[in-house]
Amino acid sequence: MCRPSFFGVDYVINPWMEDQVGQANHALAEQQWNALHAIFADVIGVQIELIAPVQGLPDLVFTANAGLVHEKTFLISRFKHPERQGEEGPFEDWFRAHGFEVRCVPGYHEGAGDMLFWTDVRGRSTLFCAYGFRSDEAIAQRVSNALNVETVRVKLVDSRYYHIDTCFCPLPGGGLLWHPSAFDANSQAAIREAIPVEDRYEVASEDAALFACNAVALDMPEGTRHIVMGHCGEACHAWLAERGFEVHITPLGEFLKAGGSAKCLTIRLDSGLV
Ligand code: ARG
Repeated sequence: MCRPSFFGVDYVINPWMEDQVGQANHALAEQQWNALHAIFADVIGVQIELIAPVQGLPDLVFTANAGLVHEKTFLISRFKHPERQGEEGPFEDWFRAHGFEVRCVPGYHEGAGDMLFWTDVRGRSTLFCAYGFRSDEAIAQRVSNALNVETVRVKLVDSRYYHIDTCFCPLPGGGLLWHPSAFDANSQAAIREAIPVEDRYEVASEDAALFACNAVALDMPEGTRHIVMGHCGEACHAWLAERGFEVHITPLGEFLKAGGSAKCLTIRLDSGLV
């Protein structure tokens, strides 16, 4: 994670940021971030690593976009928008300093913001790679070759859901929260084919618009199962509870002004697999 010391809405690169320039309340953002950090570190017991915030890089808090972690390989992002390209250096330095083999593939991609592993009950993983807004269509094939993983390429079509992690949340145990209309028809069909119907939960528009899909779901070694999110509808909460999740909801409204929530504010370092 990255503390929001220099977080703010300083420019507009997604629809959430429109009319929000200068509107993020800094003290409240710090408070919301601290509460999120405390849920991971103190309530769930996750080990958190921090990258130092950098003045002039307000979106560095969204560490999901650093790159794609796969075992000890880190595939560094190439950001589409010049406003975020300055983040590539600090992220690269951090991952190198922490023992990752840093690699890159040609073309734009925004890391774990646009590529997520879904793992079935038997432990077989598929990497869902999105294109349409921030990442190139060819990335799925390149990443598949580079990491020797199975990929499914999906297209995002709603600019509010410009990264896959805003509308698609793989869960440990083989489940999925998703918002189908964020994807084109072929991609919806591919997702429905890959993931059994009983394991998929379709998040309603009003909950998706509060970033219910931008959640961090994890199993802890001692056998507990958690999901951390900025918002969750009641029906979704019940479905998650039935699948054994302890649901942690914490307000992240200041980050929503920049187009992000719980998941965007983190990146999994242990394997990239849920
Ligand atoms: N303002 C940031 C951007 O538009 C938000 C990034 C949110 N990150 C994410 N993984 N969805 O790039």
